[in-house]
Amino acid sequence: MFEHVDAYPGDPILSLNENFQKDPRAEKFNLSIGIYFDDDGCLPVMKAVREAETAMASDLGPKPYLPMAGYAPYREAVQSLVFGEQCAPRTEGRIATVQTLGGSGALKIGADFLKRYFPQAQVWVSDPTWENHRFIFERAGFTVNTYPYYDDATGGLKFDAMLAAIDALEKRSIVVLHACCHNPTGVDLDRAQWEQLSEVLQKRELLPFVDMAYQGFGSGLDDDAFAVRELARRNVPMLVANSFSKNFSLYGERCGGLSVLCESAVEADRVLGQLTGAVRSNYSNPPTHGAKIVTKILTTPALNQMWRDELASMCGRIADMRAAIHERLSRHVNGESLSRYIKQRGMFTYTGLGAEQVDRLREQYGVYILRSGRMCVAGLNARNVDPVAEAIAKVLV
Ligand code: LMR
Repeated sequence: MFEHVDAYPGDPILSLNENFQKDPRAEKFNLSIGIYFDDDGCLPVMKAVREAETAMASDLGPKPYLPMAGYAPYREAVQSLVFGEQCAPRTEGRIATVQTLGGSGALKIGADFLKRYFPQAQVWVSDPTWENHRFIFERAGFTVNTYPYYDDATGGLKFDAMLAAIDALEKRSIVVLHACCHNPTGVDLDRAQWEQLSEVLQKRELLPFVDMAYQGFGSGLDDDAFAVRELARRNVPMLVANSFSKNFSLYGERCGGLSVLCESAVEADRVLGQLTGAVRSNYSNPPTHGAKIVTKILTTPALNQMWRDELASMCGRIADMRAAIHERLSRHVNGESLSRYIKQRGMFTYTGLGAEQVDRLREQYGVYILRSGRMCVAGLNARNVDPVAEAIAKVLV
């Protein structure tokens, strides 16, 4: 019956992370998956999460299904964090938001929705992008193309080429954008560039699908949402996928949201209905626990502040680690190319290492980074930064 089923080649990120767990060596370093580890190399339970969860434990009750669209106070909190409390489309009821299974779930529900209502459209992603973007949109039936983005020579952005390519797209093309902390390169647009791009997206009647998986890991929660808020200010219809995996350290709870900015409240109501239909046909309704934790934190001022402070200190630690690996590598290697370790933002640095060097790093030194050369700098700490830098220096010669 299943003879024709071919072997799954594995996922470039999740399978590598699983291989890391199976690696029997004592000396090994996981800089592959986009997960924030603390300075002891542990996955943190954020203080606000612990407090919220403890309070919830003393209030146990029945566990009914959530509505298909998710927990209503959570959906409100998502909108407010992503778009800003006073965003006009939000106060006018023009944003349809559903709770999703993390950011990937938001992309999948969005992709299914778009395939149904924009069946002829093609999808455009940055070159390079998070591997799962391509998988999700192709599996939803789309042709996926790329627009220029990363400049390997400088470790920066090919903004002019990006803008020109997007300016030439057919009306109603779907343009996938990273709001902040671009995955995998750590290279973002600045505010002036977002403004220019927003103008082009609007003028060309393109459909942005903004992925915001790292809000708070760039320049702060509000700054990181600039792209979304600028598009909203211009009333550009768009989809936004957001995730609380990283900024609440709630990876396994699968907390995310999908929001669609519409032209009227009536339209938003219909769109919400169709997103709900997409949820029903995928998994019926989302889980409760993580959504309640996030809601409690976002709607309780003291917990909210506690969470913001801890998130800011996590970012500070990442910045310290960027400086540390840069300094260690500068002892071994000369070169302007090292500046990317401090210039790029968020959890990732695109090291410029080739696949063979990456393989040597893993096989000979137990350092796991993606074969694309992406390193998760949020996995570095005071104890592993020296051996990691030494290993990189060795594969560079
Ligand atoms: C990553 O890019 O490493 C994370 O977003 C985890 C994932 O699901 O790929």
